[in-house]
Amino acid sequence: MAKSKTVYFCQNCGASSSKWIGNCPSCKQWNTYVEEVVEKSSTQHIPAWVESKDSKPVKAEPKLISKLNSGPEHRIVTSDAELNRVLGGGVVLGSLVLIGGEPGIGKSTLMLQTALKLDHKVLYVSGEESENQLKMRADRVGIQNEACYILSATEIQEIFKQVKKLKPAILVIDSVQTLFSRSIESTPGSISQIRECTGQLLRFAKESNTPVFLIGHITKDGQIAGPKVLEHMVDTVLQFEGDRHHVYRILRAVKNRFGSASEMGIYEMDGHGLREVSNPSEVLISNRDQMLSGISITAAVEGVRPLMIETQALVSTAVYGTPQRNSNGYDLRRLNMLLAVLEKRCGFKLGSQDVFVNIAGGLKLDDPGTDLGIAAAILSSYENIPLPTFTAFVGEIGLSGEVRPTARMDQRVAEAEKLGFEEILVHSSSIKNLKPKTIKLIGVKNIMEAAEYLFG
Ligand code: TYD
Ligand code: MG
Repeated sequence: MAKSKTVYFCQNCGASSSKWIGNCPSCKQWNTYVEEVVEKSSTQHIPAWVESKDSKPVKAEPKLISKLNSGPEHRIVTSDAELNRVLGGGVVLGSLVLIGGEPGIGKSTLMLQTALKLDHKVLYVSGEESENQLKMRADRVGIQNEACYILSATEIQEIFKQVKKLKPAILVIDSVQTLFSRSIESTPGSISQIRECTGQLLRFAKESNTPVFLIGHITKDGQIAGPKVLEHMVDTVLQFEGDRHHVYRILRAVKNRFGSASEMGIYEMDGHGLREVSNPSEVLISNRDQMLSGISITAAVEGVRPLMIETQALVSTAVYGTPQRNSNGYDLRRLNMLLAVLEKRCGFKLGSQDVFVNIAGGLKLDDPGTDLGIAAAILSSYENIPLPTFTAFVGEIGLSGEVRPTARMDQRVAEAEKLGFEEILVHSSSIKNLKPKTIKLIGVKNIMEAAEYLFG
């Protein structure tokens, strides 16, 4: 009897080897190789998606690029404006979209809700929930739809059989980790199963021109479980993130072959599913009637959209030997750098203080333009002096304490103006390029000047 073929796969990066290795040569992780059966001994490879029995491979010939018709890609525009924007203007026909996110963040809710709102025929395949559970979820979201079908299945061959019968305009798979193909012996969720099933779905998407949404779980360190390979195979990778204990969720494009990869959409989770947040700045700034110390408002840009975000800092004398530094939504290393700059360049004695920073709404910021706002919040808490209510901040801070101009200054200033801010602290050289109508621009060269302006 022929032996079945096995290969060792690194569960972290997806590299393969014919024998077991302790230390992965490609991602340097230890003890990540697991043996997986890639081909059954007796049966041959069963291709899951075959358009028709006599379909011949299409002959590819080189063509002159100038002779090709470009035309816009055909897209299905969903009723979810945030999702459309993140996808670059709707779902491109024949595209394979991966939605990653931690368990419980709302991936299934988002996709089911989108499926229910579409006026195209949709098939929602769930390997995680029974039909009953899906129905309960749909009732909770409260949308009626006559064109949304659900299927509780995990075997790819079975799924394709149903897809051929139903011919949906959009296919949703929840989740890629539960899929399995009969032609491979390893368990669902293993690297070879994920790779095989995604390969089949990719082929299906391209040949039938049907968009496919794949839901994927991510591991604790934020990687999509399974190999990076998955991210290379698909056209678009969307990351659904946010704090489970906060109401806001962010849908971010990480990779997009059909649009910008820096777009993001904001949702709010309530008892009836996810609601689009179209005016994020207004909801992210909590209560401006009475400003407390340690709160500042930053004009940030997330993706290509300007956002006014409330940042909070708390500085208090450290009770124990080593002061604590903690940050929610802002990079901890960057916070440590800011504290060192404030101590060394401005003489604030922060070395013996606990410092906590929090970004409102559970958002995560990676825009360096938020530095000045964070520094202002820290100083305000340290001095115990509230910042002026209608003052906003924007600017990156360098190691010598200098404030640097950041990208999209005009958009940030315009957003602050729109929300009724009276003044905004910016880098002094950006002033001449900005033409605000009502808001006053306060130019500062470095953090010392900003502190001087704020606290005298
Ligand atoms: P879910 O979509 O199941 O997450 P995922 O598929 O990413 O694992 O979301 C589950 C969470 O969402 C759960 O904690 C309950 C919450 N939720 C609401 O708050 N309101 C709702 O209407 C729904 C359907 C879920
Ligand atoms: Mg789910």
